[in-house]
Amino acid sequence: MPHADSAFLPDSIQTKSEFWDHVHLQLSALLDGQRYWVSNLSNAASLIYSSLLGFPKYFGESDKAVNWAGFYIRGDLFPISRISSQSPLPADQLLLGPFCGKPACQFIPVASGKERGVCAAAYVKRETIVVPDVEEYPGHIACDGETKSEIVCPLILEHGGRVTILGVLDLDCLALNGFGEEDRVGLEKVAKLVVDSSDW
Ligand code: SME
Repeated sequence: MPHADSAFLPDSIQTKSEFWDHVHLQLSALLDGQRYWVSNLSNAASLIYSSLLGFPKYFGESDKAVNWAGFYIRGDLFPISRISSQSPLPADQLLLGPFCGKPACQFIPVASGKERGVCAAAYVKRETIVVPDVEEYPGHIACDGETKSEIVCPLILEHGGRVTILGVLDLDCLALNGFGEEDRVGLEKVAKLVVDSSDW
């Protein structure tokens, strides 16, 4: 099957829960075979974004769709250049990772007392945050003035008895109330698959 067909949604997919199960299945096939996080997160962002766009009734109104899907990753996890001299980025800021959608802010501070926005809150609290109306969320970082609602899921690695926070997976929507409980459950499973399928 051509890789792009991973984002095709069969007519049998009718609910959000079925949607996320389908995305999970397609993603596990896409990520099979290598563990580089840049590549895996790139295909995950594309699959989520393209699949959501291909499910018009998802947000209730076909002209109100997802407008951004992607990752912010802890600065110190980014690879350092082997060619030019470069210092690692600090761990107390998130840097823009693979995504689909319009350009977005590059850095998000997560240091204690400096954190701001939905991504930083999900990262610091280590829990998924669903925002029905971004205008109502204090400190929301508006990368795109068209965004109306948002969901952010933390990327958590459990390894050898240790729990490590790596970054976040962020989805934005042009409709109010774009995401709910089924999305939280589905997105957390997808985030776990991405984390466990990659080396950090
Ligand atoms: N709205 C996010 C910032 C990232 S963009 O939405 C892509 C926030 O408040 O953290």
